Amino acid sequence: MATMESLIGLVNRIQRACTVLGDHGGEGMSLWEALPSVAVVGGQSSGKSSVLESVVGRDFLPRGSGIVTRRPLVLQLHKTEGGTEYAEFLHAPRKKFADFAAVRKEIADETDRITGQTKQISNVPIQLSIYSPNVVNLTLIDLPGLTKVAVEGQPETIVQDIEMMVRSYVEKPNCIILAISPANQDIATSDAIKLAREVDPTGERTFGVLTKLDLMDKGTNALDVIEGRSYRLVYPWVGIVNRSQADINKNVDMIAARQKEREYFESSPEYGHLSHKMGAEYLAKLLSQHLEKVIRQRIPSIIALINKTIDELNAELDRIGRPVGVDGGAQLYTILEMCRAFDRIFKEHLD
Ligand code: GDP
Ligand code: NA
Ligand code: MG
Repeated sequence: MATMESLIGLVNRIQRACTVLGDHGGEGMSLWEALPSVAVVGGQSSGKSSVLESVVGRDFLPRGSGIVTRRPLVLQLHKTEGGTEYAEFLHAPRKKFADFAAVRKEIADETDRITGQTKQISNVPIQLSIYSPNVVNLTLIDLPGLTKVAVEGQPETIVQDIEMMVRSYVEKPNCIILAISPANQDIATSDAIKLAREVDPTGERTFGVLTKLDLMDKGTNALDVIEGRSYRLVYPWVGIVNRSQADINKNVDMIAARQKEREYFESSPEYGHLSHKMGAEYLAKLLSQHLEKVIRQRIPSIIALINKTIDELNAELDRIGRPVGVDGGAQLYTILEMCRAFDRIFKEHLD
């Protein structure tokens, strides 16, 4: 079937429905948990936001000092066949954002709406979809950066709060971990690898990303890490060169930055032989293919869970007695219909 919705697009729809119903990745047992997703983890300033922006090919994330990401950001990328690029938030469904500076402001405002401009964090996710011909189908969850100490104005518990939130995502067996470490720090001290090693000791759901290759001391290189000798993972490490702070200040756009990154690897004496497996564009493709593959493997268990949900909804409707009034059961009926539709579409993918 040529027009079949992509599996990632389908899972995105279920995730949006779950979020509306208050079921999201951070806690509890849920349908969401059965759906594979990619979570971005790393220490503060390791380059998480830069990697996300490079994968999207757009500037759209709030930046600044301190803890900027204070709520999970579920970023759903939808590849379109053409037309203009736009973004849409689940909390403002009818509003299309064509201006990515406005997207940045909306993320910051929506963060403050829940956390009240304090330095607190909240595990209620913000859900953002980007529709563009320049992206791959992919869902990424941006999480607050791991820190070691609370600074002025932050609650004492912030270090543990962040770690608990990040952990609640990455410990789920269906979570693919995008572990970001900067190349200009010893890999043995990487917060991302430390956590990934704890929750995924065999490394079979961890993708290691090494940023800031351009910032290493002269005469040193990261081949031991990138070639898997320092810390072995099932999938190969991907090296990245993001925009420097000076590039950002000069407003170097993402397309120019991707080009610069490509040239960096192609002309590099150390990494030239690996240049086709380095950089943000390659990372995006790799993750998209991997996510698609993992979802395909999980289809039977997702169908089973959807059917369990259908049974539970039917039982609940029987309990409250049908037919039910608009207030009592309408929402349940809506969910039931949605589950049945998802069940049908997933089964099409099995054939
Ligand atoms: P986050 O806190 O993990 O989201 O990190 P950011 O993406 O905000 O990056 C923190 C700082 O490091 C910013 O000033 C970036 O410009 C800079 N940075 C990130 N990655 C690289 C890189 O690969 N090379 C260089 N030169 N700077 C980088
Ligand atoms: Na780190
Ligand atoms: Mg950030």
